[in-house]
Amino acid sequence: MSEPLALFGGKPVRSKPFTPWPVSGKPEQRALLRTLRSGQWGRLDGPETDRFEQRFAELHGCKHGVAVVNGTVALRLALLAAGIRAGEEVIVPPYTFFSTASAVVEANAVPVFADIDLDTFNLDPAAVAGALTPRTRAIIPVHFAGQPADMRAILSLAKKRKLLVLEDAAHAHGALWRNQPAGSIGAVAAFSFQSSKNLTSGEGGIITTNDDALAETCRSMHNCGRIPTGVWYEHHVVSGNYRLGEFQSAVLNCQLDRLLSQTQTRDRNGQYLAGRVGELPGVYPQKRTPDCTRHSYHLFMLRIDRRAFGAPRTAVVQALQAEGVPCSAGYGFSLPQQPMFRKKAFGPYLSGIAGKLDYRKVPCPNSDLLCKEQCVWLGQNLFLGRRTEVDDIGDAFEKIYENRDALDHWWEESGEAAL
Ligand SMILES: Cc1ncc(COP(=O)(O)O)c(C=O)c1O
Repeated sequence: MSEPLALFGGKPVRSKPFTPWPVSGKPEQRALLRTLRSGQWGRLDGPETDRFEQRFAELHGCKHGVAVVNGTVALRLALLAAGIRAGEEVIVPPYTFFSTASAVVEANAVPVFADIDLDTFNLDPAAVAGALTPRTRAIIPVHFAGQPADMRAILSLAKKRKLLVLEDAAHAHGALWRNQPAGSIGAVAAFSFQSSKNLTSGEGGIITTNDDALAETCRSMHNCGRIPTGVWYEHHVVSGNYRLGEFQSAVLNCQLDRLLSQTQTRDRNGQYLAGRVGELPGVYPQKRTPDCTRHSYHLFMLRIDRRAFGAPRTAVVQALQAEGVPCSAGYGFSLPQQPMFRKKAFGPYLSGIAGKLDYRKVPCPNSDLLCKEQCVWLGQNLFLGRRTEVDDIGDAFEKIYENRDALDHWWEESGEAAL
């Protein structure tokens, strides 16, 4: 008989914490002090943001990078700069962070949801094809968890219909698709540097592109509609100040020095864990596609199928946490079910159009299954250590599987009732 679950008083598999996030050290301290003492705190004053944009863009196979205040703004500005017009439709997945779709609304366009694939957890190209209408103008594939979306199929659909492909690469710093960096595959991409992200300055974002004209428009739009040849108080297009400050860029320049080796470590460890837990009945880690040549593992995602595993996802999450493995069930519902979409609380946007929209019955069964029953998320920092740490995660899963009957029984008796 194996050790009882920690949830029931047994010894936890792991009592030490995993690598804390964010990782920082002397380089960040020196860079911040240097910036502080320079007195050049704004992006138009100092060298850090310019330098970061160039380095990040180059690492991601792009000529241009425009650093902005966050990933949501990066998505919105990319849509506006690409000339999206009021009421045009943009296809997005229902299983993603709110911003992928809210940025579309804030660009005065209509998000149209296409379901995800149950193996890869990324946009299902067949669902995208089914969601196309004469009003479709763009597709936003999210490289969810850090695995590039099915870009062959998405690019081919987009080419036929002359659609904009905006990559939501908020999870995909350093990820590779057929050896090509995420962020350089579509016409334009948006990254986030929010505190949980694999490259972070607490808040921040960047737009990457190889399109000179699009880059110029994004640059103008992130700077109150200024143009390079204009004088300071000369504004050519309606926009705001979305510039990233020098302190954040100073930190990002240091974080960028670590990105490649951290990403390689995450990818190695993530693949190893997928191999281990994928052996267990009813456990389905995100399926890696042959086109994914580097997964950035912002998240390690898996499905627990209660019918084969023997215990429900929610109980497994609690049991893993008790064994010393931080994890969560992720999103609780698909985006169309968010109150904002159900109530069409779009503020000043989509006026005259919102009345015709109804998000209450948008079908997205795969996304719903992940949200309501099956998905488990493990954060990227769990994959920054040695293989022995990942083995602890694998051991915890195996222990829970061995104790699945006790766990299921407990859940039926108390867990469910306690919800
Ligand atoms: C998939 C996805 N897209 C966009 C964003 C938005 O980024 P930010 O939080 O920097 O605005 C996030 C972030 O949390 C995200 O996970």
